[in-house]
Amino acid sequence: IDLTPFNTLALPGRAAHYLKVTDPARLAAVPPGERRFVLGGGSNLVLTGDFPGLLLHMAIAGKRLLREDDEAFYIEAGAGENWHDFVQWTLAQGWPGLENLSLIPGTVGAAPVQNIGAYGLEVGEHLDSVTAWDFEKQAMFTLDREACRFAYRDSLFKQRGWHLDGRIAIVAAVFRLPKAWQPNIGYADLRQELAARGIAEPDASDIADAVIAVRQRKLPDPALTPNAGSFFHNPVVDRQTADALKAQHPALPCYAQPDGRVKLAAGWLIEQAGWKGKALGPVGMYEKQALVLVNRGGATGADVQRTMAAVQAAVREKFAIELSPEPVFL
Ligand code: EPU
Repeated sequence: IDLTPFNTLALPGRAAHYLKVTDPARLAAVPPGERRFVLGGGSNLVLTGDFPGLLLHMAIAGKRLLREDDEAFYIEAGAGENWHDFVQWTLAQGWPGLENLSLIPGTVGAAPVQNIGAYGLEVGEHLDSVTAWDFEKQAMFTLDREACRFAYRDSLFKQRGWHLDGRIAIVAAVFRLPKAWQPNIGYADLRQELAARGIAEPDASDIADAVIAVRQRKLPDPALTPNAGSFFHNPVVDRQTADALKAQHPALPCYAQPDGRVKLAAGWLIEQAGWKGKALGPVGMYEKQALVLVNRGGATGADVQRTMAAVQAAVREKFAIELSPEPVFL
């Protein structure tokens, strides 16, 4: 099967076998020995060529209020639900909390893997549990939030022997949305957008609308300009490294982390290294957000890797910082 429509970078490649999973019961029929890759929306994926194994396209639907207590609503959703539609649905039901994560491409099942985050919120903060199928043990299991080991763009599922190695497939997630809702509007872009709209006390749908507007302004629509969102992690460095860089480059955006380290803006580093809007062959860095790598048409996985290496080299040379790619390579 041709995988071009299954990755938002629109890279070419074929899978030897393909199975669309609409029912968790289907997973029990997958032979444990077969090489697998578990796919959601394909929006965080770099296809480097053909895949000789079985591609499992997670399309399990369903969303419902599982239960509520005095403090929170618990909402369950199937792995195949579209993330943005799910978020908008929770807001329409009167269960705010996920509004800052509006318009992120991909699926509910993929959200915990890389702990999607934007505008001051990471999904792990509102995850109650994740249920997954273990292909080797041939059994379902559930992990609570603590067990998922969420960190910046990271989770247990990204570690060896978990999701990325095809050992497990997430089938559903439960979100805990506190009834005592507080607006999360600390992020500069979001605050400015709300101010520009004259909104001083936003409700959750005001925040969703502002996030959608900012994203549409800065980020390319994958349907028009194939991309996989931010292509590199924002590097987290020790305080000394950050201070030394800041002394040389006073405009460098720095964000202090709870552990004392400092997160730098990769987009800024890439722009300063001359790569904003620049391309190598069919693959370049987006002109409005240098952290987003775009396929200008007809690119292959090798083209992506060439541009990636050139950007990493430019940033390494200018700042002595190593950028690590954010998407999964298949
Ligand atoms: N910047 C530049 N030039 C650029 C891009 C950014 O100077 O070309 C500067 C901005 O001016 C700002 C700073 O870098 O001072 C941060 O930029 P921005 O607010 O756009 O966010 P980001 O750090 O580049 C991260 C996430 C995004 C998320 C936004 C908003 C990562 C890897 N990326 O980007 O996530 O939407 O914050 O919260 O953490 C994604 O993961 O695919 C993604 C889009």
